[in-house]
Amino acid sequence: MAKVKTTFVCQQCGASSPAFLGRCPSCEAWSTMIETIDERRNPAIAAVRPHAERPQPLTVLGASVLKRIPVPIVELDRVLGGGLVPGTLVLIGGDPGIGKSTLVLQAAAALANDRGPVLYVSAEESAQQIRLRADRLGIISDQVLVMSSTDLDAIVATASSLAPALLIVDSIQTVSVDDISSAAGSVSQVRECTSRLMQWGKSRDIPVFIIGHVTKEGAIAGPRVLEHMVDAVLYLEGERHGHFRVLRAVKNRFGSTDEVGVFEMAESGLREVRNPSEAFLAERHGHATGSSVAVTVEGTRPILVEVQALTSQSAFGLPRRSANGFDAGRLQLLVAVLQKRVGLALAGQDIYANVVGGMRIGEPAADLAVALAIASSFRDRPVDTDLVAVGEIGLSGELRSVSQIDRRLGEASRLGFSKAVIPASAARRGTVDIAGLSVQRADTVGEAIEISITDS
Ligand code: TYD
Ligand code: MG
Repeated sequence: MAKVKTTFVCQQCGASSPAFLGRCPSCEAWSTMIETIDERRNPAIAAVRPHAERPQPLTVLGASVLKRIPVPIVELDRVLGGGLVPGTLVLIGGDPGIGKSTLVLQAAAALANDRGPVLYVSAEESAQQIRLRADRLGIISDQVLVMSSTDLDAIVATASSLAPALLIVDSIQTVSVDDISSAAGSVSQVRECTSRLMQWGKSRDIPVFIIGHVTKEGAIAGPRVLEHMVDAVLYLEGERHGHFRVLRAVKNRFGSTDEVGVFEMAESGLREVRNPSEAFLAERHGHATGSSVAVTVEGTRPILVEVQALTSQSAFGLPRRSANGFDAGRLQLLVAVLQKRVGLALAGQDIYANVVGGMRIGEPAADLAVALAIASSFRDRPVDTDLVAVGEIGLSGELRSVSQIDRRLGEASRLGFSKAVIPASAARRGTVDIAGLSVQRADTVGEAIEISITDS
């Protein structure tokens, strides 16, 4: 194939240059010139461009356009928004070693049983290594076709001749096209490869999974260029040495981004956790200080998690504050509220807070549970073991209402908790009356602490 013409375009001001420049001649920014294929001069790509289409009235476009392919792994299916839309491009991101390849191989096997051949292309591992993993996962399917290649054009050509039910490329940072001179993993390569896979999948209605590694900065390389190109971005999160993994959608053109899927990494691959609350609370010790239970809602699912905190006299001038599983800034804020509004002398204390099980909580509804855990550790008195805490904490120490309180309390009652402390304002709004649960209302975090931690 003739060499495609490329141009270097500044990502900041749009100036272009035929050759690579370290600094943009127009806006003078450094390292912003990125190699891009000049489409106008590239007949091969211009030919793929669909013909101009006549616009249609919105009402004529039937809902039946979205015929979804159900994925037999329920937790994955849920995060995708209830099945795979044909032609979707899904990016699965996560830290190295978290289990991305394992997840897609299991998805490949599950889908291949129902839908026919799935092509799994690995640019990182040999076919032999994939075979070893498949053995470990107990996959014996002649419908999962494996290929080890880093050449994207070869991958697309093979996929075209096979017309699989699903194409998986593991990973996008290790494949490349010849037309671009920069190395695999560079912004230009990653973007070009993704855009070719997108055109390929969309023109054939075949879903494509691409795997992306998260770089040190936490963004999928290169600098989030992929996230806006693809239809869905799923992140597999968790602590590498812990066994829970949470699959979360951060973008989904065909579904909600609130849903999470919970898995457990076992000897033979990822196992679905249908009952996350039970799993997250399984190792909880009664009567320990610095432990409380929060109820978080992920999409439509309430999940109970244990929050732990440890306060200890700081040996240095500047005390340490460390949060695992929720925002560190939020921890600072809660500590400040506890100091100023409740009068806890936390100024000279190192404070560590942790959400058990590798779950990340993004919503402020867990504020109260975190505050209770800190107060409990500081006073060295346990939080009532039968109690769950729900509520956002405001800057003046007031408890603020949170959404879906009934659903949260319902889950707590189902798991055998007998008490709950909630914001007073929440009770006035809804109908908080759950069987078997004694619900106590508090106006402030100070009141909630008095209710939950008994100084006996
Ligand atoms: P892998 O899917 O290769 O991670 P990624 O593609 O995200 O880099 O899996 C990584 C880890 O998972 C590896 O350290 C071993 C572990 N693992 C299990 O515990 N059980 C299993 O069945 C498999 C396949 C892997
Ligand atoms: Mg991998």
